[in-house]
Amino acid sequence: MLATLFSLESLLLMACLLVLISLYIYDTRQKDHAVLRNFPIIGHFRYFLEYLGVYLRQFWFAQDREELPFNRAERSWVYRAAKGNDTMVGFGSTRDLRPIGTVLFVDAPFPVLGEDACETRPVVIGPYCKKPYETKHLFNISAMSYGSISKNAVLALSHGAKMGGCWLNTGEGGVSPYHLEGGCDIVAQIGTAKYGFCDVNGKLSDEALRGAALYPQIKMFELKLSQGAKPGKGGILPAAKVTPEIAAIRFIKPHQDAISPNRHPEISNVQELLNVIEHIRSLTGKPTGFKIVLGSYEWLDDLCQEILKRGIEKAPDFITLDGAEGGTGAAPASLIDYMGLPIAESLPVLIDTLVEYGLRDRIKVIASGKLVTPAEVAWALCVGADFVASARGFAFALGCIQALQCHTNHCPTGITTHNPRLMHGLDPTSKSMRVANYVKSILYETGVISHSCGVREPRELTRRHARIMTEKGISIPLSELYPNKVPGCKRSP
Ligand SMILES: Cc1cc2nc3c(=O)[nH]c(=O)nc-3n(C[C@H](O)[C@H](O)[C@H](O)COP(=O)(O)O)c2cc1C
Repeated sequence: MLATLFSLESLLLMACLLVLISLYIYDTRQKDHAVLRNFPIIGHFRYFLEYLGVYLRQFWFAQDREELPFNRAERSWVYRAAKGNDTMVGFGSTRDLRPIGTVLFVDAPFPVLGEDACETRPVVIGPYCKKPYETKHLFNISAMSYGSISKNAVLALSHGAKMGGCWLNTGEGGVSPYHLEGGCDIVAQIGTAKYGFCDVNGKLSDEALRGAALYPQIKMFELKLSQGAKPGKGGILPAAKVTPEIAAIRFIKPHQDAISPNRHPEISNVQELLNVIEHIRSLTGKPTGFKIVLGSYEWLDDLCQEILKRGIEKAPDFITLDGAEGGTGAAPASLIDYMGLPIAESLPVLIDTLVEYGLRDRIKVIASGKLVTPAEVAWALCVGADFVASARGFAFALGCIQALQCHTNHCPTGITTHNPRLMHGLDPTSKSMRVANYVKSILYETGVISHSCGVREPRELTRRHARIMTEKGISIPLSELYPNKVPGCKRSP
């Protein structure tokens, strides 16, 4: 009837007018947003453009080396490496070499010839365990739990790690079938809530530990004390991401926020820390260490003294040191922005303390915190790390566009969401190739840096091979900035 009186166009026009009038009335009456009260209807554009800003800035407005947490130059390197594309660039560097803190490597007058270069040598972690872990893996996948990331993402990482040659850390959400599916080496993380490793009372379960140790793929156990993005705060998995399957793996209730305690209740000092490590190690027979971000570091002396008192076989087999710049699935802004020391400051402190107590060879160090390019990996090796791990480097390899939506379950690339429609975009098979390519490119180019520095493999890099720009406009070697107890040497005597 209406359609006979009015044309379709005029009906549509009237509908639009009706919507605009209703919006105008709503905007002027609501009391939450001053902008909308003062500028009804057009005020919405401000919110819309603000929302789009995060996506558009990185394409149109930000310079190559401007954005945070990762600038376009870093992201592009990972994307190209992961796609197996050439990582060459032309004309000249866009990196400004003048700012204080800029790292420069020291090229040798006579670099190592290609044919004299050697493969990364294997390292033994946990020599006193029943089942020590001997590995050549240098660059590895840092903890990201199944829950914080999707099933397809875990599958791609698991298969990619196997093909690329690196281990996969499960994160604090327990070991899922998807971690195991690809057949890669696994580091099983035990967070403060002991997800997947707890009994009915929420305590660490001996039975669960023994069960996990039966998997030959699980090579090590990592007790998480803290992570760089949120020291002093436990894991946070918003209810929207706690699916029934994830809840079953973690032994928790579905569709409720999963908040881990901000500390292991049974670990309040270095003695208790060593007790728990020894407990896990003796039950599983596998290397056991802990993950931490340093803030105050005097307690490291207490830890080392206690280790020497008990005997070096009782030491943690490794320490994973995360920088304050580390990433997360979800964290309070004040912790992410302000808490803990960056890896550039904490890594030399940890290495030097271990050297001082003669524990450098006994306790292996895994460094993480925005170490996503070969140069950053080489820097960590120069300072003294044995291994490097990355979470967000691998997220970029999976296609992350740095939309900063990990905590919302709306990740547009299907990595940190369980929304089936969004997750469908992430094809585990093709992305696993990218994960493998990324690892291989990092190893290749870290090797290139090492050979240019005159050493045969990346783990031969020392503090003499890197320099850092000072406020005087000249650089000094890392060995001068962080003088070791054993001059020029990164290992204990
Ligand atoms: C999505 C996401 C989830 C994470 N989940 C965990 C976790 O379960 N346990 C943990 O110890 N760290 C977790 N992290 C921190 C990373 O393992 C890593 O320590 C940190 O991001 C630094 O590495 P990156 O700078 O290469 O990302 C997570 C990071 C991200 C981005």
